[in-house]
Amino acid sequence: MSNHSAGVYRRRRVFILVFGLLLLIIAVSLCLLLTRGDDQQLDAQVADIQPEPATQAEVTPNTPQVEVTPNTPQDSAAKIGDPTAGALTPQTATEPFTRDGVIVVNKKHPLPESYNPGENPEAVAALKKLIQSGKAAGLDLIDSWSGFRSYTYQSTLFNNYSASSGVTAAETYSARPGYSEHQTGLAFDLKDSTQNLYRIDDPTYKFDTDWVAQHCSDFGFILRYRDEWQSETGYVGEPWHLRYLGVELAKKVATSGKTLEAYLGVEGGDYRR
Ligand code: DAL
Ligand code: ZN
Repeated sequence: MSNHSAGVYRRRRVFILVFGLLLLIIAVSLCLLLTRGDDQQLDAQVADIQPEPATQAEVTPNTPQVEVTPNTPQDSAAKIGDPTAGALTPQTATEPFTRDGVIVVNKKHPLPESYNPGENPEAVAALKKLIQSGKAAGLDLIDSWSGFRSYTYQSTLFNNYSASSGVTAAETYSARPGYSEHQTGLAFDLKDSTQNLYRIDDPTYKFDTDWVAQHCSDFGFILRYRDEWQSETGYVGEPWHLRYLGVELAKKVATSGKTLEAYLGVEGGDYRR
């Protein structure tokens, strides 16, 4: 090969090499561009099939969503529909049973043994006014009453009554410990000047004509026990036993003519046996 031919051959090889390299660079760039486009397209597709942002209810699928409607009674210790409702004892109850914020104590709804709030000051102030007005109306009342009773004290009372009248009879007028409304600090027994319970053993007593029965709601109280209510309240009539509810609710309950149990729709009656 001549020197001229060798030079031409070298230049051609260099040209082919450079041209090939250029082609390679262009091809790689094209590939990269195309691949990126695919990724973006894929991103867009993934975004399309992502679920909608979860709603509040979907975030906590295992948490029961309780709808609170104003007219639905709200219980505390025992929930509505709870099969254990009313099966609690003073030893297993952890808080007073309430319906719509009102403490209810009866033979189905005990208080915890340790519940010990003492006498409610607001209720005592109202009671003093009631006694003062009652006296002014000519009633034989004194400024002394049986109010708050601890679990232990009620236990002593109930045992004494059971010893003297037998348990069955005692249970018609005295609560077992943990089942007395007196343990709430919101119940009071009125007394007369002989230190006896107001109108106890008075054959002339009539709910419809008794001043206390007719006026106690003006002071925020209801008469809790009447003979004709025994199947609902669990006790025979007590003209002396008042329960403080505050004037507004006491008037509503009194006007309804119902027991507290019936007014609130709470189970009452006898103990579970
Ligand atoms: N005498 C009422 C029922 C009580 O013992 O609480
Ligand atoms: Zn009482």
